[in-house]
Amino acid sequence: MRNLESEEHRETRGFGIDKLNFYTPNQYVDLVELARARCVDPDKYLIGIGQERMAVAPVDQDIVSMGANAAEPLLDDVTRASLGLLVLGTESGIDQSKAAALFVHQLLALPEGMRVMEIKEACYGATAGLMVALDFVRSHPDRRALVIASDIARYGLDTPGEVTQGAGAVAMIVSADPTVLAIEPGTVVASRSTYDFWRPNYSTVAFAQGKYSEEVYLAMFRDAWNRASQMGLTCPEGLAAQLFHIPFSKMGRKGLRTLQGMMTDDDYGRLANRFEDSIRYGRQVGNIYTGSLYLGLISLLENDSSLRPGDRMGLFSYGSGSEAELFFGKLCSGFQSELNSAGHRAMLEGRTKLCVEEYERVFNAGLVQDGSRQVLERSDFDAPHYLTGLDRHQRLYR
Ligand code: CAA
Repeated sequence: MRNLESEEHRETRGFGIDKLNFYTPNQYVDLVELARARCVDPDKYLIGIGQERMAVAPVDQDIVSMGANAAEPLLDDVTRASLGLLVLGTESGIDQSKAAALFVHQLLALPEGMRVMEIKEACYGATAGLMVALDFVRSHPDRRALVIASDIARYGLDTPGEVTQGAGAVAMIVSADPTVLAIEPGTVVASRSTYDFWRPNYSTVAFAQGKYSEEVYLAMFRDAWNRASQMGLTCPEGLAAQLFHIPFSKMGRKGLRTLQGMMTDDDYGRLANRFEDSIRYGRQVGNIYTGSLYLGLISLLENDSSLRPGDRMGLFSYGSGSEAELFFGKLCSGFQSELNSAGHRAMLEGRTKLCVEEYERVFNAGLVQDGSRQVLERSDFDAPHYLTGLDRHQRLYR
């Protein structure tokens, strides 16, 4: 076991992401088929939006079970015992009072003597959790933190946002002496109250002013990048990659394009090539809201074999409403050993394709709301955690 209290390691590697993993449900819709059903040219979805498939969450996979499924493979006994904090970021909360993180805490058999909470700020929630976790491990370098991003993106059938739905969770262990990505303390943050995307308490689907949301995203990225340049935090020749929050891949591409002309063609070409690897998984999964930036990080690391320890990257987190943060990290030596490329590809390739009618049925399937007992069928036998049903307004998991 590594000695987390080693001053030597802390000086050389800092604080950051030690391990990370993602989970997405085992069924999807093909967007060419969805385009045909909606009488839309498939190229609009494939090129104009930049997505190929969209994960569909069955009724027994909610943000709790997906989050626990993403985190389970990261936890051995030593890691479990060292955890002092669990933060779950989500826009798709299941309870107005009790934190979804507490259900996850129980499912993962985590120690009682730790802080457990849920954070909400649309797609920025997990980044807020990551920043809290970094502060936690800086002040408790002998402990670790677990950050989970888990969401089900729902806009409604036959709406402009439908093609940008998805479902999934990312889990990250944050520590001193990380193995994957050491995160630098210098970041650029911005907050503005906007109505670009929101979901009132009474609604199971999100509302968006789509074009306006794109404008706010791009304006906040541009401002963050300019401020980071002025502060000396970013210099293109030193950046191996720039990652984006990816609600759909075209959005990140538009963000990237704002950098064209602000750097040499070589530097832009490098960022553009790496961007393609960062969207590979997201194009198959869809928007997972607060986990999307970190799904992009996993996708890049698992699809680009040219990355090396010491490579520095920018990460742009955007949560509608709106909160933005641009931060930076350096790959650690040994980061390759923490990746699970084969497992993740098998998970994506092993999914079942739903026809549009089946997807609509799953979309409309609901949980009882009157306190009666409901027993759910298990949909994914490879996933250790799932919702078994409800009874007396309580969710029951296994
Ligand atoms: N071939 C190729 N491209 C085509 C095409 C075809 N046959 N037909 C249309 N297109 C292109 C359009 O030219 C357009 O491209 P540009 O964006 O480059 O102009 C693109 O496809 C989209 O088409 P529309 O302009 O007709 O847009 P739409 O009405 O279908 O809505 C959307 C698109 C606004 C993204 C909508 O899906 C939406 O509201 N999504 C939800 C909101 C969202 O994700 N916003 C992102 C920023 S907010 C955020 O990031 C937080 C979050 O996670 C929600």
